[in-house]
Amino acid sequence: MEKKIRLGIIGCGGIAHKHMQAFLRIPEVEIVGGADIVPGKARAFFDEFELSDALAFDCATDLLKCDLDAVSICTYNSQHAVCAVEALEAGCHVLLEKPMCLNMKEAAEIYAAEKKSGKILTIGFQPRYGQNFRQVKEIISSGALGDVYYVQTGGGRSRGIPGNTFIDKDKAGVGALADIGCYALDFALNSIGYPKPLTVSAVAYDYFGKNPKYYPEAERFSVDDFSAAFIRLEGGITLDFRMSWAMHMDTTGDFLFLGKDAGLKVRQPDMHPWGGAWDGILGEVTMFHDVFGRPTSTKIPLAEEKKTDLFYLKIRSFVDAVLTGGKAPVPTSEILYNQAIIDGIIRSVACGHEVETDLSFLDK
Ligand SMILES: NC(=O)c1ccc[n+]([C@@H]2O[C@H](COP(=O)([O-])OP(=O)(O)OC[C@H]3O[C@@H](n4cnc5c(N)ncnc54)[C@H](O)[C@@H]3O)[C@@H](O)[C@H]2O)c1
Repeated sequence: MEKKIRLGIIGCGGIAHKHMQAFLRIPEVEIVGGADIVPGKARAFFDEFELSDALAFDCATDLLKCDLDAVSICTYNSQHAVCAVEALEAGCHVLLEKPMCLNMKEAAEIYAAEKKSGKILTIGFQPRYGQNFRQVKEIISSGALGDVYYVQTGGGRSRGIPGNTFIDKDKAGVGALADIGCYALDFALNSIGYPKPLTVSAVAYDYFGKNPKYYPEAERFSVDDFSAAFIRLEGGITLDFRMSWAMHMDTTGDFLFLGKDAGLKVRQPDMHPWGGAWDGILGEVTMFHDVFGRPTSTKIPLAEEKKTDLFYLKIRSFVDAVLTGGKAPVPTSEILYNQAIIDGIIRSVACGHEVETDLSFLDK
């Protein structure tokens, strides 16, 4: 008989539905149950999927007693660390939704639990599976640009502040800068081989979220809706980041990779109403290079992406890693750098000047 992975879901809200839809397509997965701190929510969730045998709990600790192999953690951001640590300590492989967590103290705790457990911990960045994302990384890692020294990333929306738990500081922790910002950071950093971030100087604003003229739940809004940061990376590379949920502008600019031999411009996808690197869709990709000493531009053909279900590929790659004893598809060794920038942005905004990133726990 084929081996089945006994799986649980922690947090049965919006994105858990996408996880469940993908897991249900994989015959090697047995859905054991789920937990949500809102009483009755886990049961209602499984009823929606007509999974009456699935166990439903109001507390992740009870779910983790069910001899699980793996869990998907789909809670809001402020609960990522506590749930990930508990699941790893219970001996589960973990697929943790993005962003990994909220600060470096939490990141260090998750990392320590991961190392101690020997289990797989992967972070939920589905754009990684986009063919065009991969193509950009391939072009850059082939050396076609020479040494890359400047990268511009970001994106966002002119009007696209989400609702629900995303605007509540106690639950989401941060706004646009981490919610969709982590994708833009991942696209840029992954494309150039994830160099270590050294310093961050950042600003953040909430002019739209806090204004009832633009946002109906302004009273409840307690996070950022626009952020910009200047980040120094190892190897003399500069990362220029801008991220928006709302602004009086159509775009924060394209993705730019400047190398000593050539440059790559990746246009933002169609911006209305959502934009940025969050869904794996990229706009036009153009290389700028010299031909016989003359500045020239070459359009790189894009792969047809419409039929690719990136979310399914993210879930499938996690399951495959668990089944084969493989490596985490999106490992903490990379995402800790992403998280260190988010942490640096938050601290720089709070103190009003540049800060050093806090990755000292990796040296211990
Ligand atoms: N990868 C993607 O495309 C994508 C898209 C949307 C959201 N997300 C991420 O998924 C996460 C959840 O987003 P959402 O839209 O589903 O939010 P949500 O608020 O709809 O759902 C979160 C659920 O977690 C539950 N919860 C909170 N703490 C818990 C705990 N300790 N134990 C058990 N349940 C707990 C809440 O009660 C809620 O039902 C966020 O981190 C978000 O960034 C990822």
